Amino acid sequence: MSAEIIDGKAFAGEVRRKVAAQVARLKAEHGITPGLAVVLVGEDPASQVYVRSKGKMTVEVGMNSFEHRLPAEAEEAALLALLDDLNADPAVHGILVQLPLPDHMDESSVINRIDPAKDVDGFHISNVGLLATGQKAMVPCTPLGCLMMLRDRHGSLSGLDAVVVGRSNIVGKPMAQLLLRDSCTVTIAHSRTRNIEDVCRRADILVAAVGRPEMITGEWIKPGATVIDVGINRIPAPERGEGKTRLVGDVHFDSAAQVAGAITPVPGGVGPMTIACLLANTLTACCRANGLPEPEGLTA
Ligand code: GUN
Repeated sequence: MSAEIIDGKAFAGEVRRKVAAQVARLKAEHGITPGLAVVLVGEDPASQVYVRSKGKMTVEVGMNSFEHRLPAEAEEAALLALLDDLNADPAVHGILVQLPLPDHMDESSVINRIDPAKDVDGFHISNVGLLATGQKAMVPCTPLGCLMMLRDRHGSLSGLDAVVVGRSNIVGKPMAQLLLRDSCTVTIAHSRTRNIEDVCRRADILVAAVGRPEMITGEWIKPGATVIDVGINRIPAPERGEGKTRLVGDVHFDSAAQVAGAITPVPGGVGPMTIACLLANTLTACCRANGLPEPEGLTA
């Protein structure tokens, strides 16, 4: 193995410590406590775990956490009314509606009801447009976490060849926009890309966000490249016993680590950065709402 392992868990801990320090300063110097509201509709078990974890970490960095739960059969109008209340509440600086929503709700209508200035997920159409045009946006948390790790490793990303595998609205597209903003030459590869291995082999920076377990192997990677694996896939692991599973990324870690210069593991790579960046975004939203300078080192 030659690659340096990028420790996302440790990195996320540092981001949370920076957030906590700046939250403490906001309180001491301005009497302001950032607040994050998380809305969960229904009882999806994975979503419940995420929401609990978000609430716990929000409190740990010194912010106020507001949790709102609606039953799975709630009317969309009830959710929109709740969002109107949260938009109007000055104690709430960030709003996150946990996805997926029940089938009878329209995700776009719900997301676009959030005040863009409080849209800490960066999914509102205004934030998508602001990011694409290089203006001050709220940036989606997972790509923001990836960008922080890449800047930490490379310093300047200017002129580097970046390939993003996957074109989702949540990761692939905003990731490509952020890399472009940092002056990379950006390619988005996807399921219809021809000679995708050759495309990937050109990358100084390879970001995998396709949701296909271990699709990208060492042969696809340029020697010395930085590989960021956003995938979280649960696959059967009969070697661990009957019915057991394990988590893998979109990158085949063992072969990729022989070739790459640096690589994020799964678990313990990108995953922990997402919630840390949600907290960073909440702090950023709070500073902007109060006309204060942006928190240092925590924005795109
Ligand atoms: N569900 C899974 N990931 C996410 C995320 O990043 N944001 C929201 N709102 N819901 C999610």
